[in-house]
Amino acid sequence: MKRCLILFWVTLLAACAHRATTSPPQTGATPGQHDGATAPRRAWWKEVVVYQVYPRSFKDSDGDGVGDLKGITSQLDYIKNLGVDVVWLNPVYQSPNDDNGYDISDYRAIMREMGSMADFDAMLQGMHQRGIKLIMDLVVNHSSDEHRWFQQSRRGRDNRYRGYYHWWPAEKGTPPKRWSYFDEDANAWRYDSTTHAYYLHYFSRKQPDLNWENRRLRHEVYDLMRFWFDKGVDGFRMDVIPFISKDTTFPPLPAEYGGNYPAYYAKGPHLHEYLREMNREVLRKYNVMTVGEGAGVTTDDALKFVGDDRQELQTFFQFEIVERWGRRQGDFMYPDSSNRDLPALKDVFTRWDSVFANSGWGTVFLGNHDQSRMVSRFGNDTPRYRNASAKMLHTLLLTMRATPYIYNGDEIGMANIRFSDIRDYRDLMTINYYKRLEREGGDLREFLAAQAEVSRDNSRTPIQWSADSNAGFTRGVPWIRVNPDYRTVNVAAAVRDTSSVLHYFRRMVELRKSEPVLVYGRYQLLDRENPEVFAYTRSLNGRTLMVALNFGSGVGHTSLPSGYKAGRILINNMGIAPVRVASLVLEPYQAFVLELKKE
Ligand code: GLC
Repeated sequence: MKRCLILFWVTLLAACAHRATTSPPQTGATPGQHDGATAPRRAWWKEVVVYQVYPRSFKDSDGDGVGDLKGITSQLDYIKNLGVDVVWLNPVYQSPNDDNGYDISDYRAIMREMGSMADFDAMLQGMHQRGIKLIMDLVVNHSSDEHRWFQQSRRGRDNRYRGYYHWWPAEKGTPPKRWSYFDEDANAWRYDSTTHAYYLHYFSRKQPDLNWENRRLRHEVYDLMRFWFDKGVDGFRMDVIPFISKDTTFPPLPAEYGGNYPAYYAKGPHLHEYLREMNREVLRKYNVMTVGEGAGVTTDDALKFVGDDRQELQTFFQFEIVERWGRRQGDFMYPDSSNRDLPALKDVFTRWDSVFANSGWGTVFLGNHDQSRMVSRFGNDTPRYRNASAKMLHTLLLTMRATPYIYNGDEIGMANIRFSDIRDYRDLMTINYYKRLEREGGDLREFLAAQAEVSRDNSRTPIQWSADSNAGFTRGVPWIRVNPDYRTVNVAAAVRDTSSVLHYFRRMVELRKSEPVLVYGRYQLLDRENPEVFAYTRSLNGRTLMVALNFGSGVGHTSLPSGYKAGRILINNMGIAPVRVASLVLEPYQAFVLELKKE
């Protein structure tokens, strides 16, 4: 049995005032009829494909073993050739790197290891010259404990910055339990003797939570957002944004949450008030895109964040999909292949699509820096099926009615490294939990077996550029081990091989860009109960495409929807035609997009 921790986890001055983010910039007329209903309004951020760059592991230019901004700039032609429109860059701000940049000590400076502000400006200019937009990470639920604000705040109870953080005076006794994701004791309160008080940290001890109830703090955040927008940045991905508002009386966790802290953290009393204020103060003044990390957000409250009438955010990431195919137990998620239920997964996609049927807009992703590798988790990374299943998953990502996010390395089918030794891990989450288990006499073997499958470090290994030493990532010692499979799985080899995942991914991006039906068309699930094949149609203006994806290592069967006959196959991840009369036969992990014609 395996086990793991649960986690989840966008030239020049663009200050010219454009339309608000939640009344989206219109890039044209509505695409037309949507099978009886009006199709969603067009907006550029609905039509883009986003590529996530994890800067620490992307490309090192100076030999210190850590990826950097000059490294990214050196690979901009590669990114451009993928066909993607937007880069989401994980944090590159000054940070002591307790949590790889998610602990920021200066929001207006570049992390030493990543380079300088001049390097940043050159990278952004290089992107814009190529028509690529940049969205940055906005991490404002918490700062680093090394941020000037916190250094001041902890000095004295009457300090000017005291109210920027959440403090609980120790004379009131021990504060009510709050759970921490990364703390060695899972305790979100940390005692600080200087002022005889506890401070709140939902994440690590070095990530104190900012107090959004404080008006001055909120306006500091709006100022720093303007700083980056005025530099020309095209949007923000907002880290754990649903957690910003807190009930500062810190009552015991209400019983209805049944111990589910993230769900409670995502429902603070003034959350939507603050998001509307942020929109009014900043977002609506720029033509930018926003995507919130929707930790704890469910289908029930989704539209509160992104409804067309809300003036809050444009989109967010939901975690229901990536939390599938495992088994939750308390604070933990156990990967469990017996729980691999395709109809249930289809239901999640279908339910989330329907939430945005008349308002709002979705996102889709299968991997990021907080998840294990997509091909290892949802596909099959054994040599026989790795390429086919990676292509199949890209077909899914690029045919949903939602903005697709592709995590760097997935375009070449990078897989989990599966460390077996705790000394190989770099993620504080894995390391701190290991320490806790060790102290409590827990089952360390079982824990390591599970981490091999689900640890965040699986997706954080260096991008495999070539078969050269360290996969061409660095000429120094990489900060985390390179996956030994780089000798065969690397960008240079993928570029040479026209049947590679990389070539398929580019064709798939081109297909999405040439077919408005794949962006805006109505989604309809087919053959729900089919345990191996995920099939659906997308329809717009009388054009209907069918997507079929075999998630299994056996032959799969499905059929055309009634009233339709097969037209052209627009893309197929195999040389074998799937159509045999009215029924469709799919090879293991086969995926295709087919035109349908009315009979
Ligand atoms: C988000 C980030 C994750 C980080 C955490 C704390 O979930 O994606 O990487 O550790 O927030 O900032």
